[in-house]
Amino acid sequence: MAIMAPLTLANSHPTLLGILEPGMSVLDVGCGPGTLTVEIARRVDPAAVIGMDLNPEMIRAAEGASPPGEIPNLIFHAGDIRECNWHEEWAVVNAARTLQWIPDPMVAVRRMARAAVPGGLIVLLDVDHTRTAWSDPPQAWTRFHEAFLTWREGCRFDNAIGRHLSLLCEEAGLVETASTSTITTVRADDHGFFRAAGRWRMMVESRGRQMVAAGYLAEMDRRAALGAFTEWMQQRDATQTVHETCAVARRP
Ligand SMILES: C[S@@+](CC[C@H](N)C(=O)[O-])C[C@H]1O[C@@H](n2cnc3c(N)ncnc32)[C@H](O)[C@@H]1O
Repeated sequence: MAIMAPLTLANSHPTLLGILEPGMSVLDVGCGPGTLTVEIARRVDPAAVIGMDLNPEMIRAAEGASPPGEIPNLIFHAGDIRECNWHEEWAVVNAARTLQWIPDPMVAVRRMARAAVPGGLIVLLDVDHTRTAWSDPPQAWTRFHEAFLTWREGCRFDNAIGRHLSLLCEEAGLVETASTSTITTVRADDHGFFRAAGRWRMMVESRGRQMVAAGYLAEMDRRAALGAFTEWMQQRDATQTVHETCAVARRP
């Protein structure tokens, strides 16, 4: 039986891990509950790190896990990257799995580019939702995922954002873009299985409710998807495959 592996840069954002050095200031856009941001702050100490997120609940969770002042070079900030005015301040501006939730990602990337010092790095990591796959998925789950993609389109979220990161960098005036794509398959007996598949279970609880409220899914079907997926996760031969791309570009 696999056990839950903690979220780390090594297992979820290795490109950023390879870039960070002590003394590099970092703006972490869409930091969520701040798990990776705390690791970033420890790695670049004593340089400043801000973890920012649109959702104040995420910031509260981040501050709960790492109370203000506990890590002297780290603060968390609630805000929308599209409205932030950092200007030439950060050696690295990172957005991991964040642009997928922004209807106008170009606006966000331009703000991120502006926030970086000249010569600084913009690091974008995101997923291609059109290619996520599950072995032998239950019908209720396939229906949920189809409704998820349709709902995302309705919200003007880019389902294939992972494939569009280099173009976004280019259009934001960034240079020397290098991108790496990875296909990660986790199996039921892998260390990272419950963390990776569990993200989708949480998606049904969080985004699934928004889909129901917006009329893209019946509550009955949401519950059926949750039950079917939970059962699917217990299968010994279950696999989940995710396609992600990380683009690194420089501000001229
Ligand atoms: C999937 S989480 C990623 C968390 C973390 N970066 C990681 O890789 O584990 C995406 C986060 O982006 C945040 N977000 C969405 N739109 C945003 C915006 N316009 N500005 C800042 N954060 C945003 C969401 O609130 C969410 O917490």
